[in-house]
Amino acid sequence: MVIATKNTTPFSTRLINGLLGIKPLYGIAKHQARQMMVKRGERIGVPWKKQVEEMKTVDWESEIKKVENPSLAYPDYYLTSFHAYEQGNLGWKPALELEVAALTVHSTIFDQAGELAGDSKLRASYHNILASEIPEPQDILDMACGVGLSSFALQEMYPQAKVTGLDLSPYFLSVANYRSQQRQANINWVHAAAESTGLPDATFDLVSIYLTCHELPQSATRQIFTEARRVLRQDGHLAIKCMNPESEAYLKMPRYVFTLLKSTEPYLDDYFTLDIKQALIEAGFQTPTITPSSPRHRTVVARVAD
Ligand SMILES: C[S@@+](CC[C@H](N)C(=O)[O-])C[C@H]1O[C@@H](n2cnc3c(N)ncnc32)[C@H](O)[C@@H]1O
Repeated sequence: MVIATKNTTPFSTRLINGLLGIKPLYGIAKHQARQMMVKRGERIGVPWKKQVEEMKTVDWESEIKKVENPSLAYPDYYLTSFHAYEQGNLGWKPALELEVAALTVHSTIFDQAGELAGDSKLRASYHNILASEIPEPQDILDMACGVGLSSFALQEMYPQAKVTGLDLSPYFLSVANYRSQQRQANINWVHAAAESTGLPDATFDLVSIYLTCHELPQSATRQIFTEARRVLRQDGHLAIKCMNPESEAYLKMPRYVFTLLKSTEPYLDDYFTLDIKQALIEAGFQTPTITPSSPRHRTVVARVAD
């Protein structure tokens, strides 16, 4: 017997899902979306092509040797495509484009920021909350630091602090290390998984996770919170800037647009259904403060539980 079930997924979402399932079409859509992003960046003054061409002249094969841990085992969930890059976070193309992509993608977040200032305003909105909620840290761990943008921003905010930037991508870390030499920023770069950093117990006052939780399955997020608790001192804080599932921007987003977003962010459903407050308490933190800190983001600050 066939039981008829009502299909509650809207037609537009099913259509998008169906189209994305056809590989050549998905390839064309990805290419178009990418072209549009580069064009948009150039239009608002992000020197996308020039910067990437300049970066290509660096001897990256030598640079990667300075930061890579060749015996590191990557978690399976990481070995997939992200942000429409086939190789995900493990390649030179995403590494050389992360900085210009961040400036472009964040340019539309604040209506009145002036487009190029979107990224720095987003970071400032995080730092303002840190300044008001936590004492000045001496030792900071920037988990999932990418090419170091969040680490440099923390170093600028706390010039007296010792900053460590940690990431799973040796490609991103190579760019971070190269940029820190250019800026003469003294940052310690660590190639490791945030869920098992290999760093000693109780050595940081602040662990920061900036714009990364939406790229993780829930099990990894929980392990990372537990690891953050382990490396924090007794009066330390974990601070997180992440997408805000309760913001109007996402609540009112048409489902087919969300489906398109999911095609470049494989763990978005996991992230949107995570009870972050409960996950932090279970990992050994006090009840966190959660503050909307852009039309689409929130800042979560949790102190180590006694
Ligand atoms: C969107 S980027 C954020 C980069 C950076 N925080 C910034 O402000 O530009 C997300 C980063 O998370 C890293 N990542 C994802 N899973 C990770 C894990 N389990 N451990 C360490 N890094 C991870 C990726 O390699 C990537 O660099």
